[in-house]
Amino acid sequence: MSAETAVARPGTESAPNPLRRALGHMATSVTLVTTRHGETDHGFTANSFAAVSADPALVTVFLAETAECYGVFAETDRIAVNILADGQEELALRFATRGADKFGALVQDPEHPGVPVVVGAMASIVGRVHERWSVGDHLMIIIAVDEVVYAGHEPLVYHNRAFRKLV
Ligand SMILES: Cc1cc2nc3c(=O)[nH]c(=O)nc-3n(C[C@H](O)[C@H](O)[C@H](O)COP(=O)(O)O)c2cc1C
Repeated sequence: MSAETAVARPGTESAPNPLRRALGHMATSVTLVTTRHGETDHGFTANSFAAVSADPALVTVFLAETAECYGVFAETDRIAVNILADGQEELALRFATRGADKFGALVQDPEHPGVPVVVGAMASIVGRVHERWSVGDHLMIIIAVDEVVYAGHEPLVYHNRAFRKLV
């Protein structure tokens, strides 16, 4: 068995974080998960987004309990998951940076005044919180989908700690 195929337990000294390495090599889309809480917009970059159910339409995303916006997403009701398009790396980095001015220059769709919908995203999924579960060190947020804005751009791809494009 080669080193690359060896089975190792996560976190053991002989194999420093094989789970993180394996998951890091899984290509994903990149999303901005956004909400409006009171008068203030909040959001974070997430690649833990997944579809859960077709009927009813449910999607999910996981938020680390260490995130500054954790308290907001533990309470808020309306959420948009903006699946980023090729070329939106700068937005992905900004929303992954604690303390950054995340919404200052963000262009929002005026047709969705209750929740930040990102203009130029590949698609935005808008919905309400269906269920929340504390799972390990993350909050699992299950969202019941109300509306999908599909712009149809090429998606931004994340793989091995780098942003990539489909070819
Ligand atoms: C490509 C990428 C994907 C990420 N995915 C997630 C995720 O799924 N869940 C999460 O909690 N943080 C994720 N992060 C990290 C958060 O975006 C980052 O910690 C963010 O600053 C948390 O929000 P805060 O600024 O309110 O602390 C990701 C970061 C990057 C660059």
